[in-house]
Amino acid sequence: MSHSTTPSPRRFTAGSPLTGRITVPGDKSISHRSLMFGALAAGRTTARGLLEGEDVMATAAAVRAMGAGVERRDDGTWLIDGVGVGGLLQPQTALDMGNSGTSTRLLMGLVASHGITATFTGDASLSKRPMGRVIEPLSLMGADFTASPDANGSQTLPLTMRGAHPALPISYRLPVASAQVKSAILLAGLNAPGITTVVEPVATRDHTERMLTGFGADLWVEVENGERAIRIRGEAELEPQDIVVPGDPSSAAFFVAAALLVPGSDLVVANVGLNPTRAALFDVLRAMGGQIEELDRREVGGEPVADLRVRHSALSGIELDPAVAPSMIDEFPILFVAASQASGTTVTTGLDELRVKESDRLTAMAEALTAAGARVEEREDGLVIEGTGGEPLRGTIGAPIVTHLDHRIAMSMAVAGLVSRAGVEIDDTSPIATSFPTFESLLVEAGACSAM
Ligand code: S3P
Repeated sequence: MSHSTTPSPRRFTAGSPLTGRITVPGDKSISHRSLMFGALAAGRTTARGLLEGEDVMATAAAVRAMGAGVERRDDGTWLIDGVGVGGLLQPQTALDMGNSGTSTRLLMGLVASHGITATFTGDASLSKRPMGRVIEPLSLMGADFTASPDANGSQTLPLTMRGAHPALPISYRLPVASAQVKSAILLAGLNAPGITTVVEPVATRDHTERMLTGFGADLWVEVENGERAIRIRGEAELEPQDIVVPGDPSSAAFFVAAALLVPGSDLVVANVGLNPTRAALFDVLRAMGGQIEELDRREVGGEPVADLRVRHSALSGIELDPAVAPSMIDEFPILFVAASQASGTTVTTGLDELRVKESDRLTAMAEALTAAGARVEEREDGLVIEGTGGEPLRGTIGAPIVTHLDHRIAMSMAVAGLVSRAGVEIDDTSPIATSFPTFESLLVEAGACSAM
C-alpha cells in the first residue's frame, strides 16, 4: 500500500490564473470511516464518492484482511459487506498501513475489542509517529501491545497487538486533542459490554460521532464543565448504510489558497465539505481578506457542503487564536504559504501537534518556505511569517524542497511555486497520491500549470 518508492520530483512554476470549476475528491476521514463502519455492519453498505487515495486503500485492504468484503463497482460505487460487530477475523499477514496514521490508529481501536492478534507496519514517515496515545487507553480496555520504541522512548510501528474479548468499557479524558484517539476508543467501545466514555477538552472533528449514529449505534454527547463527553453503548449492532462522501475540505484548501494568491483567479471549487469541526481555514482566510463565497449550501451524507467561489485577493497577516487549531489541523502548511504572500506578519501558536504529523510540519514548512525565499521564524509551538504583500517569492534555486514523505508539504509548496519567480522544485510528488491523486491534473484543469 505504500506509494511508489521511486521519488518523483517536479518544479511548479507560475502560470495562468485559476479559473472555471473543479471538484475535489471525497473526504479522507469520512472515506476511512465508511469502510471501517461498513465492515462492522451486518449486511451491505454502499459508498459513493469514496476517496481512492493510497491511505484509504490501506484501510480497504486491512478490513478485507479481517473478513469484510470490499469491492469497487465500475460506476465508482464501493460495496462493503460487513461481518457484524464482534465478527472481525484474525488477519493472516501484517497489515501494511503505508503512510496512514488514521488507518493505523482507528483500526487499532477495532482490533482492541476483538479476540484477534494483528501486526501493523508502515512506511518511514508513519513508523516515526507516536502510537502511545492509542496504546495507553486501549491497554486500559484490556488489549496487549508489543511496539517498537524509538530513540525518545515513544512507542512506534511496527507493532503487534492482541485484542481483548470481552474488553473493558472505560471512561477516558483525552490528554491531546485528537480525533484519531477519540475514534479509536469509541470503536473499541462498540464491542465492549457497557458504556465507554471519551471526554474531549477541545472539540475535534466529529465524523465518528455523526456516522456511528447514522449506522444506528447508541451514541450520545453531553457537555460537562465545558467539555464534550461522548458515550457509546457497546455490543452494538450496526445497520448498513448508503453513504455519499462529500468533497474533502483539506484537499479543497490547496485550490482555495492558490486562487486567492494567483492574480486574476476566479475559481469555483465544488462540493466542499464544511463541517464546522473541519472548515476553520476558510474563516481564517476570509478574516485575512480572502474573497471566498459559499454557493448552493446543502447537505451531502449528513454533512454541510457548498461550492466555494474564490477570487484573487490581497491578504493581510493575522494573529491566529490557537483555539481554532483543531478545526484546521491539517491546513497549517497551506495557511503558512498564504501568510507568506500576505501584507504584514502572521503569528501562530499552540501548534505542537504539527510536529507529529506525517512530518514535523513546523520545521518542514519553515525550512521549505525559507528555501523558497520567504521570511519565517520557527518557534517551539508555531511559525511567525513576514509576508511579501503579494510580491512573488524568489522560488528555489539549487536544492529542491524536502517533503519528508508528507503529501501536504508537497502540495503546499507546489502552490508556493505558482506564486514564485523561479518556480519551486519539490523532491518527491509521489506522496500526494496518499490523499489527493488528482491534485496535479486539477491544477492543469484549473489552468494553473501545464501538463507534465
Ligand atoms: C484525522 C484526525 C486528525 C487529522 C488526520 C485525520 C481523522 O489527526 O490530522 O489527518 O480522520 O480522525 P489527529 O487525531 O492526530 O489530530
